[in-house]
Amino acid sequence: MQMSGFPKDFLWGASTSSHQVEGGNRNDWSEWEQEHAARLAREAVKYEKLPSWPFISNQATDPQNYISGRACDHYHRYEEDFDIAKSLGHNAHRFSIEWSRVEPEEGKFDEREIEHYRNVIKALRTRGLEPFVTLWHWTLPLWVRDQGGWENKKTIDDFLKYQSYVMRTIGSDIRFWIPINEPTIYSGLAYAIGWFPPCVKSLRRTSRVLKNLLTAHRKAYVLLHQEFQHPVFVGSAHNVHYNVPARNNFIDYLALKIFEYIRDLRPLYSLRGYEDFIGLNYYFRDHVAFAGVGGRYGIIDIKNPNNHVSDLGWDIAPEGIYHVLKKVARRKLPIYITENGIADAHDEKRELFIRKHLQEVKKALEEGIDVRGYFYWSLLDNFEWDKGFWPRFGLVEIDYKTLERKIRPSAYEYKKIIEERSL
Ligand code: FCB
Repeated sequence: MQMSGFPKDFLWGASTSSHQVEGGNRNDWSEWEQEHAARLAREAVKYEKLPSWPFISNQATDPQNYISGRACDHYHRYEEDFDIAKSLGHNAHRFSIEWSRVEPEEGKFDEREIEHYRNVIKALRTRGLEPFVTLWHWTLPLWVRDQGGWENKKTIDDFLKYQSYVMRTIGSDIRFWIPINEPTIYSGLAYAIGWFPPCVKSLRRTSRVLKNLLTAHRKAYVLLHQEFQHPVFVGSAHNVHYNVPARNNFIDYLALKIFEYIRDLRPLYSLRGYEDFIGLNYYFRDHVAFAGVGGRYGIIDIKNPNNHVSDLGWDIAPEGIYHVLKKVARRKLPIYITENGIADAHDEKRELFIRKHLQEVKKALEEGIDVRGYFYWSLLDNFEWDKGFWPRFGLVEIDYKTLERKIRPSAYEYKKIIEERSL
């Protein structure tokens, strides 16, 4: 199928998540940040080999960088931010609701906070931006953390109670729902690699957490379809990797297949029957090897330092989005790219990054793959979890001292693509 441009009803926008932009949150992350900021600053020398080190080193070695604090103060400035999104031609926006605000204590829902999100949705609608609502983007209320987070099966029921409250109060104006963001990445980083709170390194506990997250998604799906008369579309945001063997040998290829099955494909397929669309988050290429580290052999993921990389050292590979689209298309559902973006403080690579990824998306569309939207990560520079504020993903630059917003040149290039619906 040949087509001159992107479909007319294609959704274009950007994504954010509550903890990364709002500011003033009190949850498991905000407490963890206080405890770990000094350590993270000390350990930042591990980024020394990155090409970005000369200009990130000051910030990365400063403990303040690791405290989310007031972040972008998006909580108070969302109208200004959505004005910017609208002025950039966007017609959709993905954001998340902060569970710890809505239910700071078990069973005690805060009406003022839900009113806040009601206004956020209204602000999007009045600007013609279709809301894509994520219910859980990695941060837990303190009481949920204290009961063991997603390791505890009870958290599934608690999440569904929180979801029910959101559905009842503001759900009637939401069509696109993403109950859980990237279950595999969260479980992996928090329970296998130990970078995220609660910093566990146990494959057994990782698989328990992943299982509970996937169960929560399935139950959330059923509940959403029971609740509403109006059409609702529910999908997870899956981070699917573009894996290549690190070396051209059979053992690395085999490692890749095993890794891909466990990390990407099995969780993707386990939601069959419980999604109306696939949310796809794609960032970089992974070089997978079977190799020894510290005397122990296993499947490892090698980041190739010689390649074209982002400020975070992530290997830029636009063709990867085409390959992962083909993989997830096997589920035979509409696909929205719910995240794709680059940390690029000087805005030197972002325009080409967006353009090249969209060229690959277009190639997939021309082959009949049903892609219906693209959300750049992120609208704003924001708090990048255990890396803090130095990675700059935004279409809009934030001056963290004055909180002034400055639209980057690449954002205007993205706008042109949206307006012309072609590259
Ligand atoms: C994704 C997360 C998002 C952001 C980007 C860079 O895995 O969903 O919150 O941190 O990576």
